[in-house]
Amino acid sequence: MDQVRRELGDCQRCKLCSGRKNIVFGTGNPRAELVFVGEGPGENEDLQGVPFVGAAGDLLTKMIEAMGFRRDDIYICNVVKCRPPGNRNPEPDEIAACEPFLRAQLAAIQPKVVVALGKFAAQTLLRDSTPITRMRGAWRVYEGIQLMPTFHPAYLLRNPAEKRKAWEDLQAVMKIFGKNPGSRA
Ligand code: URA
Repeated sequence: MDQVRRELGDCQRCKLCSGRKNIVFGTGNPRAELVFVGEGPGENEDLQGVPFVGAAGDLLTKMIEAMGFRRDDIYICNVVKCRPPGNRNPEPDEIAACEPFLRAQLAAIQPKVVVALGKFAAQTLLRDSTPITRMRGAWRVYEGIQLMPTFHPAYLLRNPAEKRKAWEDLQAVMKIFGKNPGSRA
């Protein structure tokens, strides 16, 4: 993983480098069995250099803990490592520039399960343009690793009624780890 970070260096491979304060590479256990992949850093993440530390991050942390894990147990990273201005969606050229590093991170970790948070993570890793509303909740395989697509926590903050479905998806992940799925909604 250190080698992947070194290779990324002071990255100037796409235009996102001009507006960033920090590269948000990833955080957690580089030998994790479970990895969460988000979209890209927001304002707080850019300032701190750590993924998922804003409002969506608080919800993700709650979801992780409800699953019986701690943030330190798992690994968290994003499709793009630099903040898109004004939190706009990452553009195809930006995703293309950053994707090799995401793939290298997952290759270094070799987790048992990847949870793809939202359409950018799911569509990028699976090279599948199916909407996340249709992809979520069904196991997929990414490079021999089981992958569960689910909703992005920022989407859940805007659409709390969808939390139940996301929790179902995470319960399927817990089963793989022998964690006891309760009835939390
Ligand atoms: N949303 C993401 O997709 N990633 C982050 O790191 C923070 C918010």
